[in-house]
Amino acid sequence: MTDVHVSLPPALRRALDLLADPPTDPDVSKGYLDLLGAASADDAVPKNTGPIQAAWASPIGSMLYDNAQALSRRLISAWALPLEWLNIPQGGVALDVGSGPGNVTASLARAAGPEGLALGVDISEPMLARAVRNEAGPQVGFIKADAQRLPLRDNTVDAVISTAVLQLVPNPAAALAEMARVLRPGGRLAIMVPTVGRAARFWQKLPNVGAHVFDDDEIADVLESNGFASVRVKNYGTFQWVRGRNG
Ligand SMILES: C[S@@+](CC[C@H](N)C(=O)[O-])C[C@H]1O[C@@H](n2cnc3c(N)ncnc32)[C@H](O)[C@@H]1O
Repeated sequence: MTDVHVSLPPALRRALDLLADPPTDPDVSKGYLDLLGAASADDAVPKNTGPIQAAWASPIGSMLYDNAQALSRRLISAWALPLEWLNIPQGGVALDVGSGPGNVTASLARAAGPEGLALGVDISEPMLARAVRNEAGPQVGFIKADAQRLPLRDNTVDAVISTAVLQLVPNPAAALAEMARVLRPGGRLAIMVPTVGRAARFWQKLPNVGAHVFDDDEIADVLESNGFASVRVKNYGTFQWVRGRNG
């Protein structure tokens, strides 16, 4: 182990061991592992230049979102996390894709027990800064990277969650394929996205404001084509949860 590794926060030190292409001089100066540098997004993948992602990438927008999500999680049952179903083994590794303020990531870590590890991946620096300030710890680490090109090796995590993110990702199918790639065989995945149900076809014809409107079966179909089994879709008003088991 190098000196650089020794000076890293423990969660990020463990994260480095899971990377496909670990940097020789990791940048953790902001408390998260920065794999994109000054770029606001990964140059190799499409970017969302719409107003919604711009808000989540701003200090004020990330603060407003953080407060709103905390309230929503208390009041709206559709926001409750399927932690039991995710079945994260004690000491296992869980991944939160588009981790935002990081409280979902911290919940995954608690579910994984004292030897477990939860990693949150996001592209928004203000969101990552909030996550580091409020949630980072020995079992919780954050990485600046894009969902469409996850930095982890194949088959490295035991469970993946992504809540209220895929609608913002320019190529959601690529992000789902990445989640499938890093998830161990038998590992479980839970996705939550906003939905407009049968009105999706109509909304899809309107000018795009940077948020994808999913058809009812769209995410489930992509998961099945990536080899997921027991794929289930549940709609709760304006939200949809999709769950599946890898392989
Ligand atoms: C509405 S917030 C949801 C945050 C968190 N998952 C939650 O449920 O509270 C969406 C988050 O997805 C992130 N995001 C959007 N596109 C992304 C991408 N391509 N890769 C990684 N994160 C992304 C945004 O920066 C933002 O933090």
